[in-house]
Amino acid sequence: MSLTAHQKNLIQDSFAKVEPIAEQAAEIFYNKLFEFDPALKPLFKGDIKSQGRKLMAALKLAVRGLDDLDSLVPVLQNMAAKHVEYGVKVDDYTPVGNALIHTLKTGLGPAFTPELKDAWVEVYQVMATVMRSHAYPDFNPDQYHNTKTYNN
Ligand code: HEM
Repeated sequence: MSLTAHQKNLIQDSFAKVEPIAEQAAEIFYNKLFEFDPALKPLFKGDIKSQGRKLMAALKLAVRGLDDLDSLVPVLQNMAAKHVEYGVKVDDYTPVGNALIHTLKTGLGPAFTPELKDAWVEVYQVMATVMRSHAYPDFNPDQYHNTKTYNN
């Protein structure tokens, strides 16, 4: 992952700010995600509290991965396979990424600078690429273009 030490610090600090408001963050995240794609709703079974914990678990993985992506790859691959069982499709990583960026933007306010946004986008893209490549054999990152677009 081509992040500078400065970008890593920014991400780690921003995560520390979102963690205490996990439940609100989860609410923002899922509202936005289901606005982007209501068909994803039935995939999620838990209440908002447990979704908050899962969202934070996902972000924690990202933050951990900053220091050592290599050790994270098998974890992400395992998770990608589990996500196929949940019914997650290759295109679904796009609205999820956009909902995540929206959540950070809403949760952090002015602290979510363009620089911080770029760093989070990079982290999400790396994780999503690892997961998609493992879970969907036809997935080719160089040729993949999601035809759907989402606005934050
Ligand atoms: C980088 C991308 C992602 C990461 C790091 C991530 C991480 C996680 C984690 C840590 C969990 C909880 C542990 C588990 O049950 O495996 C989880 C559950 C889940 N994720 Fe993801 N996820 C990602 C992308 C997605 C996408 C694109 C979808 C598509 C809608 C999705 C849907 C779900 C669902 C449905 C569950 C189970 C929820 C439930 O039991 O109610 N995830 N994810």
